[in-house]
Amino acid sequence: MSDTKASNQMWGGRFASGPAAIMEAINASIGFDRKLYAQDIRGSIAHAGMLAQTGIISTADQEKIVHGLNTILSEIEQGRFEFSTRLEDIHMNVEARLAELIGPAAGRLHTARSRNDQVATDFRLWVKEELQRTEGALVNLIEAFLDRAEEHASTLMPGFTHLQTAQPVTFGHHCMAYVEMFSRDLSRVRDAIERMDESPLGAAALAGTGFPIDRAMTASALGFREPTRNSIDTVSDRDFALEFLSLASICGTHLSRLAEEIVIWSTPQFGFAKLSDAFATGSSIMPQKKNPDAAELVRAKTGRLNGNLIGLLTVMKGLPLAYSKDMQEDKEAVFDAAETLDLMIAAMTGMVRDMAIDKAAMKKAAASGHSTATDLADWLVREAGLPFREAHHVTGRAVALADERRTSLDRLSLDDLKAINGAITEQVFGVLSVAASVKSRTSFGGTAPAEVRRQIRYWKKRLKRDASRAKTR
Ligand code: ARG
Repeated sequence: MSDTKASNQMWGGRFASGPAAIMEAINASIGFDRKLYAQDIRGSIAHAGMLAQTGIISTADQEKIVHGLNTILSEIEQGRFEFSTRLEDIHMNVEARLAELIGPAAGRLHTARSRNDQVATDFRLWVKEELQRTEGALVNLIEAFLDRAEEHASTLMPGFTHLQTAQPVTFGHHCMAYVEMFSRDLSRVRDAIERMDESPLGAAALAGTGFPIDRAMTASALGFREPTRNSIDTVSDRDFALEFLSLASICGTHLSRLAEEIVIWSTPQFGFAKLSDAFATGSSIMPQKKNPDAAELVRAKTGRLNGNLIGLLTVMKGLPLAYSKDMQEDKEAVFDAAETLDLMIAAMTGMVRDMAIDKAAMKKAAASGHSTATDLADWLVREAGLPFREAHHVTGRAVALADERRTSLDRLSLDDLKAINGAITEQVFGVLSVAASVKSRTSFGGTAPAEVRRQIRYWKKRLKRDASRAKTR
């Protein structure tokens, strides 16, 4: 593409000389918004089609325009397109090249359109596609967890509060906690798609247009449900981008907590999980080490997601309606968040499928720290009729005795237990083991293996049902 130093071809009428170099540098977005080339060309093809259908331009011009745009598409895809900073952004780069290719007909494409509705259209299309990618990635992650939960529905592990052993649970139950979290992320993605599925094209600069355009036609050609309903809002709104960034931050937070758990589980001190060489790295100096770098990086990358959200919120917060150039700053945050989130979900899905679970280590830890103390208290309430507060007190004395004897609750003798409270019988040993404790927690959503399996069945069905609903949009 020729790069003359003369006045800008798009508004050359008013400006006598080209922009100062520094102006060009701060103004140009082509360095990053070239990512929108496919959406820009798609939007223009839909627009040209509508202009011809409504008689605003001739069919002959439309055909030239579409042919030219398709040529540009392949030039870009084959790396033969020369992007120019002087032409500022993707919209003007494409339009200028179109003029070179087809001559004066190119000038008719921008009828009844402005870069303001054009960029809003391109960006919505891009974000919508990214949301659909995220949707697929989250489904894969959830399926990985469902598989691990099924495999480990009755694998015992310690459940923690304050990272201190609290009560025994199953690893399957723990996995299903993540299924719940990522399913909410998935529903946030689907909600976001639903809300943003409106076409900005035809809002023009901000006020709409006097040309007899058909906005429903371009909306449907671009796969949007319907056109937006207020031209001012259309060109000044970026909440669809903010919504993507916020759901990315929330999902990132979930991924980061999981990453932190994998880091903890894979320490020799815990030894619950081991990542294969595919997801761990060695140390260049300490030959014995195997580090969970991928999990650590997922944990760290959450910071970028949060930064991108705060960045765009700050850009938008003081802007009067309608368009201001500030809004050009919306793209890099979203592009970076998208790339980061895709990578994080993929890496985490890989790790969830990859990690080997050490059942013996988990079971041993599950029994430590008198994790069945609550079961003893519950037994005293149920079988001996004690008020819970008193049962709590009796159990405390049993725990203290076990500590004194350096043993566990289920290894205390019946006589010892009877000495603390006369109502205790042999039956109590039926609840003091970790497996019995877990098995007894059959309340809805509880950790009993039968209940965990029920929740797995529920989510498998629900995942299918929601997917087929999503397909009809
Ligand atoms: N590159 C611009 C952006 O990203 C396109 C819209 C320009 N509109 C304008 N009135 N200057 O926002």
